[in-house]
Amino acid sequence: MGPKKRSRRELHELEDLVAKHARIEESGWTGVNERTFIAVKPDGVQRRLVGEIVRRFEKRGFKLVGLKLLQASEDLLREHYWELRNKPFFSGLMHYMSSGPIVAMVWEGLDVVKTARKMLGETDPVNSLPGTIRGDYCVEVGRNVIHGSDSVESAQREISLWFRQKELQCWEDGSKHWIYN
Ligand code: RTP
Ligand code: MG
Repeated sequence: MGPKKRSRRELHELEDLVAKHARIEESGWTGVNERTFIAVKPDGVQRRLVGEIVRRFEKRGFKLVGLKLLQASEDLLREHYWELRNKPFFSGLMHYMSSGPIVAMVWEGLDVVKTARKMLGETDPVNSLPGTIRGDYCVEVGRNVIHGSDSVESAQREISLWFRQKELQCWEDGSKHWIYN
């Protein structure tokens, strides 16, 4: 018996089901399962800041679910910073981000997107308080060491851009009862 031919309506129902599952999967990334995309930019790697940055996220209590060192392609970077494509600094940004390897990471935890942005500091290091990563380790906006997603939606987009599903690890966090009540 050959495959059953589906009616247009059945196909629409299937599409709705797929979309619904995608939404459920997305909404699963809430609460303690929220995720963000963090990248140590080429200057951060060159300046040996990877360990310090990972240390800060670990010590805060966040869970590492993905990490890799890569030389980002032009296509990937253009897609990543697509919203900034018309900014005057865009070509400089592309050059900066492709000037060496990047450490791409996914971190998980309660309010991790917002907290990570606070840990990073402001876009321009001059406005970043001491104690933040940019406030402690850089002076110029064009060499600001680290990237962090600016919203849960951007995080979802960026994580799927930089990582394959199988590169993200599901593991039992043995210290979670000491971090969450
Ligand atoms: P990021 O995406 O890298 O985490 O930085 P952000 O959200 O704090 O700032 P965004 O507006 O998204 O800018 C992305 C990166 O572009 C560079 N930039 N240069 N020359 C300039 O005026 C300028 N403005 C932004 C920075 O490297 C910034 O992080
Ligand atoms: Mg940004």
